Amino acid sequence: SPIAREPADGLAVLERRGSVAEQFGIPLAVLAELTHRCPLQCPYCSNPVELERSRGELTTPEWKAVLSELAEIGVLQIHFSGGEPTARKDLVELVRHATDVGLYSNLITSAVLLSRDKLKALADAGLCHVQISFQGNEPKVADRVAGFSNAHAKKLEVARWTRELDLPLTVNAVMHRQNLDQLADIIAMAVELDADRLEVANVQYYGWALKNRAALMPTLQQLEDTTRIVEDARSRLKGTLEIDYVMPDYYALRPKKCMGGWGRQFFNISPTGKVLPCHAAETITGLDFESVRGNHSIAWIWQNSEAFNRYRGTGWMQEPCASCAFKEIDFGGCRCQAFALTGDAAATDPACALSPRHQEIFQLAATEADEAQSRFIYRNFAGGTPEPERD
Ligand code: SF4
Ligand code: FES
Repeated sequence: SPIAREPADGLAVLERRGSVAEQFGIPLAVLAELTHRCPLQCPYCSNPVELERSRGELTTPEWKAVLSELAEIGVLQIHFSGGEPTARKDLVELVRHATDVGLYSNLITSAVLLSRDKLKALADAGLCHVQISFQGNEPKVADRVAGFSNAHAKKLEVARWTRELDLPLTVNAVMHRQNLDQLADIIAMAVELDADRLEVANVQYYGWALKNRAALMPTLQQLEDTTRIVEDARSRLKGTLEIDYVMPDYYALRPKKCMGGWGRQFFNISPTGKVLPCHAAETITGLDFESVRGNHSIAWIWQNSEAFNRYRGTGWMQEPCASCAFKEIDFGGCRCQAFALTGDAAATDPACALSPRHQEIFQLAATEADEAQSRFIYRNFAGGTPEPERD
């Protein structure tokens, strides 16, 4: 490697980043999906429908080599995710290694497997930030959505330990028709937990979530209420709580700039080592992904692999994107959503009002939301379990 492996902090990190990352356009942050194993069964899971089994997961030495390589090529932040990353027995060792090679580490967790001792060990290993997902603000709805009893109480406990250990906390609240009415209380909960940030994350409908779209799609009235509640909280809580909020795709007029554009600002490493342009990229059939177990370096894969180059930039676009003034602003929206809804990942994301499919999906969303079908199909390694009938 052209880059020395000294423990990197401060100026050394920035000098190193300047020399290599800019040459390859390497992103600042990478998502490491350590495992697809997960004790929760969320009906909106964004992992691929075919989960990777634990026997194929990268080993501890393989993940450490990946972390070293990421630091060498100029990545600054590593997000440990899953599945549930705390299901990996070597998590503390991996966090320690990330610290040793100079990476800022964030743990993205459902929190239900964490003890205080484990969290303390992670903090001692140099963990820099914790993000905990919440399914609501009270146990009844939250535990039902997670398909896991007592999940909500456990999350609250872990969030408090996080702040006691002086780790910054982000609350990630995944929102949909069956919990949007709790949004004001979720915001109050994030303040009470002393979180720095709240992500009001509307469900994205690809992967498993597509199977549950009718049970999750918000109504138009909820959408109006949500926008008002978020705007009010943002001005009221300025300097206390940062709130990220993106409008649900199906009701948007313009699509989100998904991943900051394909192959521009982000990549993801799957449990078995596949290097992916986004966490849901494997839902697009017909794309082959290189692996860190193969012959190529991660920098080569980022820069040269077919999967990254297929939808990079604007050259692949069809009309109406190809001649649109916004094409370098939103990069045509989300490839995974375009594929899920049209069967063609190069189509304009139907979230865009200029897409010929936009009106159809808007109607679909409004109709599904009004029909109010509310039973979930849970996500698990058994291949999915329908929620039992309720009274
Ligand atoms: Fe973006 Fe394409 Fe819609 Fe233009 S047509 S706003 S580039 S998604
Ligand atoms: Fe894959 Fe949007 S989630 S490009």
